[in-house]
Amino acid sequence: MNKKVILVTGGAGFIGSCFTISMIKQGHEVIVLDSLTYAGDIKNLADVSNHKNYSFVKGDINDTALVAELLSIHNVDWVVNFAAESHVDNSIASPNIFIKTNINGTLSLLNASLPYYQELKEKKSFRFLHVSTDEVFGSLGEDGFFNEESSYSPNSPYAASKAGADHLVRAWYETYGLPTIITNCSNNYGPRQHPEKLIPKIITSAIHGNPIPIYGDGKNIRDWIFVDAHCRGIYLALTKGRIGECYCLGEDMEMTNIEIAKKICNILGELRPRSKGSYSELITFVEDRLGHDRRYAIDSSKAKKELGFISSESFDDNLRFTVKWYLDRATEING
Ligand SMILES: NC(=O)c1ccc[n+]([C@@H]2O[C@H](COP(=O)([O-])OP(=O)(O)OC[C@H]3O[C@@H](n4cnc5c(N)ncnc54)[C@H](O)[C@@H]3O)[C@@H](O)[C@H]2O)c1
Repeated sequence: MNKKVILVTGGAGFIGSCFTISMIKQGHEVIVLDSLTYAGDIKNLADVSNHKNYSFVKGDINDTALVAELLSIHNVDWVVNFAAESHVDNSIASPNIFIKTNINGTLSLLNASLPYYQELKEKKSFRFLHVSTDEVFGSLGEDGFFNEESSYSPNSPYAASKAGADHLVRAWYETYGLPTIITNCSNNYGPRQHPEKLIPKIITSAIHGNPIPIYGDGKNIRDWIFVDAHCRGIYLALTKGRIGECYCLGEDMEMTNIEIAKKICNILGELRPRSKGSYSELITFVEDRLGHDRRYAIDSSKAKKELGFISSESFDDNLRFTVKWYLDRATEING
């Protein structure tokens, strides 16, 4: 293995922590840059906190001078940008911070990375990988899939801010030749996700005997990917991806929100039966999210063909593992 030095922004969040832990286990060196917003938690990195190849810097991706300093002090090979405001509901209530972090923050990373890259003697291995979402493509009808050719059509302020960032990353490749790659991934699930997101929300509400809120008629469809598979896809894109390209990542696991809620209730019923009644009795339909996208579904053929990306073995096993992870921490995590 060729050891790389990786600057992981947003590494104290859900997916960034999974990626950091996996990279350290594979023998790479990781510097996490994270401002620890309400969504970040240093405890997410507890598994590697004492590792010699890991360091943590509390800071903002908008601090271009700090990013430039980290790049040159550590001789960074790869910048992997996870840092973002990531919750659609928050973006509807307070969009400005999404523009500041997701668009200006990405611009700041690009502005720090380009001169660093231009000065590098050994340029071949440098990569700037930007982690994005399928939500930039908008919403699908009953048929069809998003792929790398899909047109951008973001509906929420979150999706629009991620789309803006994607365009900047693309432009820094086309205009300045910065070796960038973008990954657009579907909805992730797994351990360490903030309880504001759908799957942890369902699990933690149920564990605490609270109503399980499901938007609208519950028939919105999401395409679920296990967080480890997403991180494997990112690594493959870094090692095998072509610069300037985008790769769509998903696991062909479309499900309505009500289906996933029922699945989780069934797993909980087996792992920790309620003293009275079933968990699914707690499911409560609530007023729909504004502009709620109806269906997302990813076609990851390009990633499969070019990168050798393969899906996880079993959705049910990974969902059970995730539910168990939250159950084991039920007293620490509030729904
Ligand atoms: N969760 C998903 O299903 C999903 C799907 C596709 C793509 N993505 C993208 O993956 C990335 C990570 O998502 P996540 O679910 O892990 O998010 P998250 O909200 O769990 O983590 C975001 C992290 O970024 C940090 N952060 C926020 N603003 C920052 C700033 N200005 N400077 C430095 N750090 C900052 C936070 O403290 C947190 O640790 C995001 O870019 C998101 O758009 C997420």
